[in-house]
Amino acid sequence: MNRDEQLRKEVYEEMEKHEGVVEQDPYRLHYHLMPPVGLLNDPNGFIQFKGVYHLYYQWMPFKTGHGAKFWGHYSSVDLVNWKHEEIALTPSEWFEKNGCYSGSAIEHDGKIYAYYTGNVKDEEGNRESYQCLALSEDSIHFDKKGPVVHLPEGFTAHFRDPKVWERDGAFFMVVGAQTTELKGAVVLLQSENLIDWEYRGTLTGGGRGKLADFGYMFECPDLFKLGDQDILIFSPQGIEGAGMKYQNVYQAGYVAGYFDSAAGTFEHGDFEELDRGFDFYAPQTTVDDKGRRILFAWMSVPDQNEQDHPTIEHKWLHTMTLPRELKLVNGKVRQVPLEELRHLRAGGAIEHKVELDKESRELTGVNGKAFELEIGDLSLSEGWFDLSIGDGVRLVYSTGEQVATLERKSYVNGVVEKRQCKVENLKSLRLFVDTSSIEVFINEGEETFTARFYPSPNNDTVRFGASNQAGFTIRKWDLNHVNLK
Ligand code: FRU
Repeated sequence: MNRDEQLRKEVYEEMEKHEGVVEQDPYRLHYHLMPPVGLLNDPNGFIQFKGVYHLYYQWMPFKTGHGAKFWGHYSSVDLVNWKHEEIALTPSEWFEKNGCYSGSAIEHDGKIYAYYTGNVKDEEGNRESYQCLALSEDSIHFDKKGPVVHLPEGFTAHFRDPKVWERDGAFFMVVGAQTTELKGAVVLLQSENLIDWEYRGTLTGGGRGKLADFGYMFECPDLFKLGDQDILIFSPQGIEGAGMKYQNVYQAGYVAGYFDSAAGTFEHGDFEELDRGFDFYAPQTTVDDKGRRILFAWMSVPDQNEQDHPTIEHKWLHTMTLPRELKLVNGKVRQVPLEELRHLRAGGAIEHKVELDKESRELTGVNGKAFELEIGDLSLSEGWFDLSIGDGVRLVYSTGEQVATLERKSYVNGVVEKRQCKVENLKSLRLFVDTSSIEVFINEGEETFTARFYPSPNNDTVRFGASNQAGFTIRKWDLNHVNLK
């Protein structure tokens, strides 16, 4: 048995050993993508190939911690029902022995070209990184071609997460990087044939320009056109909190501007966070045959109390967000739940027209563990309006300050913690709750809050309140349990 076969065998044994324990967890989600066992992190290689969507992901099957990652693989024809496929990449070769780290996929000549970072560490912990290529004709089996990009001068080995796309008749790659002066950067490479890559320089950061002093490492870059702008998404590390901004340990966001492929430059505006909740990192997008720009993100943040999640007892950790479609409105990226998510709805809606007057109450039929809420026609007097899900999270809008707040009971020590952002005029809310996750879309995705939370298992109430008057219409759907086999 070679190393690849040996590793696959060990993973399947691990899955079998823990299947019962994992599935018995009351906090297991009903309609999100999770690891069958172990830890999941970044979305990788997201692509629609021969009509089928594929989402590969960072997977540590042997423990609920980080380490020598595999590429796990989910596929779907409808973006609602997913099938867990065979492992796509195992860390079996010298150039990836400490992990087949994050990367992307592009279709060319009927094949998937998957680019990923080969992470290598020696006994003393010294790191090397290689940008590697693997080809697949069927999306399942990959033929590894080894490193195609070596570390350029001026950067540390924190050089990873290649994202490849085609523009103006050439192929481009962005890579997340750290300069030897310990500045975060995104670098650009170019290729005519997807095999030979030419280094074109730093696209942003690296101690120069608008992001000259913006943290010590940029992870998971992704550059694409949206409306009439180019958007560069990345996840910077080392940014200090500032008022309501940058409250998580690491951030995930974007800059919008103009990418000049001939000059290899990118003029852009300020960094904007993509999500304002507790758990959102390393997002990756693809474009599908309907021309939609679709995003998945990891619903967690590295090093942010990862080892305190109660699901660890059940041998699994973390989940993806729901897929979201990106739209550009007035130069700002909006995220809206993908149209197909309507197929998750089990039966018709429960509807209410509600007037609250200095009170808090529950609404008939509006409760549960896995459901969607759509709240519209909001008319709010001064003061605040809130809604609480179980005993775990509370969403509050203050009309005076024009601030939206997501509070949750910390899963580390039970203390209430919060994340906030400015929302000028709260008009509508769409919420997806899935046992231990919540995704809030404010004003058609103008802002989003994504978070894990752990309510008492027997508490599935939803409560609405107003300090003065609040009127709104509400629709609620139970959402189906999607079988991920
Ligand atoms: C982001 C990240 C990537 C890396 C991967 C390793 O969460 O740190 O930069 O490729 O995770 O799993």
